[in-house]
Amino acid sequence: MDEIDRIRDEIKHLCDQLKTYQEEYYKKSRSVVSDFEYDLLMDRLIELEKEYPQFALPDSPTLKVGSDLTSSFPEVQHTYPMLSLDKVYTSEGIISWIEKCSKKALKRLTFTVEEKIDGVSLVLYYRNGILDKAVTRGNGLVGNDVTPNARTISSVPLRLSEPVTAAVRGEVFINKEDFLKLNEELEVPFANARNLASGTLRRIKSSETASVPLKMYVYDAYLEDADSSYPTQAEMLDYMKRLGLPVNPDYALIADSQKEMDVTVIGTDDLESYLRQFQERRDALSHEIDGMVIKVNELDEREDLGYTNHHPKWALAYKFDSPQGETVVSAIDVQVGRTGRITPVARVNPVKVAGSTISNITLHNQDYIDLLELSVGDTVTISKRGDVIPAVERVVEKNDEGNRTYRLPDTCPSCGSKLISVGAHRFCPNRRLCRDQVIGRIAFFVGKGQMDIENFGPETVNVLFDKGLLRDIPDLYSIDYFSLIGEMGFGEKKVQLLHDGVVSSRERPYETVLVSLGLPDLGKKGVQLLIDGGIRDIDTLMRLAKDDDSSRLMAIKGIGEKSASTLLSALRDPYMIDLIDKLKKAGLRFESVRDKEKESLPQIFSGQTWVITGSFTRFAPRSLAEKELVARGAKVTGSVSGSTTFLLAGEKGGSKIEKAKKLNVKIVDEQQFIAMLEGEGSE
Ligand code: IVH
Repeated sequence: MDEIDRIRDEIKHLCDQLKTYQEEYYKKSRSVVSDFEYDLLMDRLIELEKEYPQFALPDSPTLKVGSDLTSSFPEVQHTYPMLSLDKVYTSEGIISWIEKCSKKALKRLTFTVEEKIDGVSLVLYYRNGILDKAVTRGNGLVGNDVTPNARTISSVPLRLSEPVTAAVRGEVFINKEDFLKLNEELEVPFANARNLASGTLRRIKSSETASVPLKMYVYDAYLEDADSSYPTQAEMLDYMKRLGLPVNPDYALIADSQKEMDVTVIGTDDLESYLRQFQERRDALSHEIDGMVIKVNELDEREDLGYTNHHPKWALAYKFDSPQGETVVSAIDVQVGRTGRITPVARVNPVKVAGSTISNITLHNQDYIDLLELSVGDTVTISKRGDVIPAVERVVEKNDEGNRTYRLPDTCPSCGSKLISVGAHRFCPNRRLCRDQVIGRIAFFVGKGQMDIENFGPETVNVLFDKGLLRDIPDLYSIDYFSLIGEMGFGEKKVQLLHDGVVSSRERPYETVLVSLGLPDLGKKGVQLLIDGGIRDIDTLMRLAKDDDSSRLMAIKGIGEKSASTLLSALRDPYMIDLIDKLKKAGLRFESVRDKEKESLPQIFSGQTWVITGSFTRFAPRSLAEKELVARGAKVTGSVSGSTTFLLAGEKGGSKIEKAKKLNVKIVDEQQFIAMLEGEGSE
């Protein structure tokens, strides 16, 4: 095979491999390779395609890099602004609205009462009777084009019975029963039927949309030719039905007497009892409704009543439930986690829900934001999932600023690197240098539940990082903390505490160290499974990673195929190999101690205070000497004082030796020190 063939082959192979990973991740929401490995393959492919564009495949996975998968739904301008509805929560509210409308009108008004279906608003654009486009409501002016998916909804006709050009608005929903059945099968269930309908409408593959029994009811039409063949809403509904569009048959007319059509007619006096009845019927309906919509029936009167920017004055929503937690999204911030994962967070005006005040809510990823069609300035309702985690339930009112659905940035807000998409999430690939990632990693390592280094809070991590002293986890063990004394926020006491905390952290058991590395999906429980399964040290684990031998892990009850291969590929990551190597050298434990060995060493230095200076042969780095001392009960400090018991002096001791002599502090050299350690058994 000549060189050129080899390159073509490599490109093909890389494409196949990356596509499988993307698909795996997208479908199962989990990565089967480490981010690093993935990036490596992707970078290689980008490089090759740049150099040999003639071999680049038209569906190359590089075309998806940096772009979100849902961007396959282009934004489309609506031909008419898709306004929202004004709302009331009481029947008195409706009656006074009816009176207000009636007073302004030139003739006697009648009103339609429709179900307010709790689904997703969709506009169908027909051109000469053929379905041309289906666009989500978006911000009312611009929405997402989801035509291929809408075409799969069985009740949406692709062709009308007349060649009209019209924008038809309606609600896409799923029946309660279908929702319960489908949701049961999902790994991550949807909170409600509306969200499932919204998510389904945004599937990348329309075949996946087709497999869900979505339905649609239409309630409004804007015909291009203004000589509308219908003078009232009721007749418009009827006309739409004749066109072949799905119209909810359950609507009523408020009128004191009606000659008209085949429809329930209620007198104004009976309105209250009608609405009460409906509230009761709600549970028995096959689909979710969240209220009723009252509309002025006479279309010619509507224009006189007019519009606000937000809603027509000729329609009103009567909502059954008053909102639990309703608030405004003041900003959307983007956080970079320790693994590089990008998480959007909504900042909302503080609101009390189920006993606690909520001001931050995670928005997970772009898909989640798209599903809500959420942007800054929107009014939203908030719930607490499982009564704990706050979640945005829905947008109840779009912002007045015309903000479109929020889009995550293409570059990392912390380091500016171009983000990559892996499955539903975006990641910053700049593992080693991205500030937020590094700080997040170190803060995790020193944090409670992991190495638990006292006094080493996130603030300290930040300051030391910015001073250039702490560039990654291993630096924790080589920083000369005492040199910080006198700097802002670093008093003698604090420095001593930091130093002591770091030193004693060397004694943390292997189990703790392994968890602190932040390997994907490897928490306390997973580590215990490994140990109990006989994998008691890092070398064994690294060997399995090197040989990609996941069968050994899978033989352990409780470890599945996916977690096994995720763990092993994370351990093959050169960054991780390097980190483990450095931490080994710093003297951390990478082997589980059997119970018998766990008994502590004789505390021969208990109550003593030691200072170390110079360099050593057996204890290089010097911190190893410190480890031996601390393990036997000594306290190690940074400067010689009256309270120092011993100065351990290696080569090139310097000024500390002078000071020790002056203060009559005993000086111990490396040989003497070793003798002290070895004599420990006989003492
Ligand atoms: S009329 C200008 N009728 O409710 C016309 N809306 O809260 C405004 N909705 O965005 C809409 N059923 O998604 C109308 N029978 C119905 C409806 C309905 C459900 C939804 C629609 C709208 C939202 C407003």
